[in-house]
Amino acid sequence: MPQQPPLIAPSLLAADFARLGEEVAAIEKAGADWLHLDVMDGHFVPNISFGPVVVKALRKHTKMPFDLHLMIAPVDPYLTAFADAGVDHIIFHPEAGPHPHRTLQVIHGLGKKAGLVLNPGTPIEHAATVIDLLDIILVMSVNPGFGGQKFIHSQLEKIAALRRLIDASGRDIRLEVDGGIDPHTAPACIAAGADTFVAGTAVFGAPDYAASIAAIRGGTQG
Ligand code: DX5
Ligand code: ZN
Repeated sequence: MPQQPPLIAPSLLAADFARLGEEVAAIEKAGADWLHLDVMDGHFVPNISFGPVVVKALRKHTKMPFDLHLMIAPVDPYLTAFADAGVDHIIFHPEAGPHPHRTLQVIHGLGKKAGLVLNPGTPIEHAATVIDLLDIILVMSVNPGFGGQKFIHSQLEKIAALRRLIDASGRDIRLEVDGGIDPHTAPACIAAGADTFVAGTAVFGAPDYAASIAAIRGGTQG
């Protein structure tokens, strides 16, 4: 079965925060498909990153879709602010609140694509029960909170199970993987059925952003 090359969503978390506008323009020029934005509250995860003000400031620097990964609890009070800041996808953790189905409805009501993200210890059933409302399923291949961690191989089976679930649903859902992705870990994820990659350290830590993005996509040797 012919496969499309995977989409690459560099994570801003690994960029130079003193030069964010330039960094975003550089990865767009280097061939990135989406910009992945990791929002952390120091409560749901043990780190703090940035909020809607930074997202809004970056919106005018690129045409890339903004792929918002919320690592905050609660989620609902902040959805409108991020939607107004110009994000395209809003992805959240089911553990962040008691009503993930309602949150997905609100995201769609704001005119945005909606996604659920599954931690390494979170079962796929969370996605299965709301699959009719999902545009993206994000598999964490590290525990969320920090960039630069080691890929957790046990998540490959989960990716394969989610691929079967998505195919059985007949819905157009992106299967995205986040954490420890580089040219060495991406191929096994592709084989398991992933079609979209977040990569922080592997892109922004590389001397040549375009070469790194191409290597993760599989177009060149990594
Ligand atoms: C971790 C974040 C990731 C992170 C990935 O909580 O969700 O998006 O930035 O960083 P790398 O690619 O360095 O593992
Ligand atoms: Zn992320």
